[in-house]
Amino acid sequence: MQNGDILRRLRADAELLKTLELMGPHGQLDSRGDKKLREVAGFCEVILRYVRSFLAKKNRLRIADFACGKSYLGIVLLKLLEELDGKQVDLVAVDTNEQLIEKCRNIAFALGLKRVRCVAGRTLEFESEEEFDLVVSLHACDSATDEAIAKGIQLGAALILAVPCCQNQIRGQIKNGPGLRPMAEFGLIRYRLANMLTDALRAQFLKSAGYYVEMQEIASPRLTPKNLCICARRTRRGKRPGADVGYKALKSFFGVQPRIEKYCPGIITEEEL
Ligand SMILES: C[S@@+](CC[C@H](N)C(=O)[O-])C[C@H]1O[C@@H](n2cnc3c(N)ncnc32)[C@H](O)[C@@H]1O
Repeated sequence: MQNGDILRRLRADAELLKTLELMGPHGQLDSRGDKKLREVAGFCEVILRYVRSFLAKKNRLRIADFACGKSYLGIVLLKLLEELDGKQVDLVAVDTNEQLIEKCRNIAFALGLKRVRCVAGRTLEFESEEEFDLVVSLHACDSATDEAIAKGIQLGAALILAVPCCQNQIRGQIKNGPGLRPMAEFGLIRYRLANMLTDALRAQFLKSAGYYVEMQEIASPRLTPKNLCICARRTRRGKRPGADVGYKALKSFFGVQPRIEKYCPGIITEEEL
């Protein structure tokens, strides 16, 4: 499937878009709905590439969408995987906002999707006996992305794909980092530096946990600057001693305390560099 095919396919599915409230009842797609649709379509393209490369042999996929909001991403992904790839998908959609979760339930019901479970609660508190194949998260605010990554590791997910939103947790800390003041005194530079640093730390944390990590863009930066996707796949070798060297070096250089380490204990070893 070529770039843009998924967007065209989704745009043609008025019933789905109306039920998701991305499209108005008379078929109108306003700029907000169109932007979200493009983000979701771009993210789904990346996810489908990973699923086809690394989970091709699995006919049944267990997927979690953390900080799901109205579950645009999870539900669109479920439909694409079922319709295009013939997979059977069990989707769990989790969000702290109970009203949004109620909406997710109504959407799943209206679309006749029986294998969707919507859970109101914090990602970090989500518990499951079963392993998950894929964990996805789109624009989970601030450290909610760290929760999604941490929970993905704890659930043994083969693939974890997260497109972060705001990176405030680290931004507040780098201002005082050693030697960084001449750079970080400029608000916009500090903002961009924090975004890159936070996502690099997340990637290094995933590497420490035994994942191979790449960065992809889900859309043009002109559509959204929040377009970076952290794509992680669990390696066969798993967690190896010394794999956390990159994480520790980065953390120490910038003098920051990333929250992800607290959310997922046991990944970073105690010894000093
Ligand atoms: C910007 S919205 C993104 C929603 C959706 N993924 C999307 O792209 O449309 C962020 C969502 O994260 C949820 N959220 C924030 N912190 C959370 C946490 N710790 N656990 C689960 N959900 C959380 C909020 O309730 C909100 O719905």
